[in-house]
Amino acid sequence: MTNYTELCQQTAGLIGGVPHLIANLSNASAALWQAMEDINWAGFYLLEGDTLVLGPFQGKPACIEIGPGRGVCGAAVATGRTQLVTDVHAFPGHIACDAASRSEVVVPIRSRGKIVAVLDVDSPLPGRFTEDDRAGLEQFANLVERELAELW
Ligand code: SME
Repeated sequence: MTNYTELCQQTAGLIGGVPHLIANLSNASAALWQAMEDINWAGFYLLEGDTLVLGPFQGKPACIEIGPGRGVCGAAVATGRTQLVTDVHAFPGHIACDAASRSEVVVPIRSRGKIVAVLDVDSPLPGRFTEDDRAGLEQFANLVERELAELW
């Protein structure tokens, strides 16, 4: 089980000190990647207009653009809510950037009340993410929101 309190403390020390969005998101994705087991992708998509564009991440190369409402990421933006998908094969419209992915969590990230990005974490194991992971990843996303509030 990931220690999200420790991850957030460590990430708080890593990001926000220097005002560069891409640099800070890169370190945030790297810290998350190191802290979680059994994942195959961790990173950010940034909202540009109504399209999600690939941001800093760890893992295999991924889809560059995700249109409005598309995939699990688009659903997170459209609903404004975290998506916890225990079996991506059962999620209509799931976008398989890596055919090995079997479960996924996507958390919206806001600045000044508007969604500006999503945090996306994938696993090759079905049912990898629990409600504790949802809460921990929301805590991590909130930290990123707070630390980088002025940079979007
Ligand atoms: N699976 C996502 C696409 C992004 S990749 O997982 C990195 C989706 O359905 O939105």
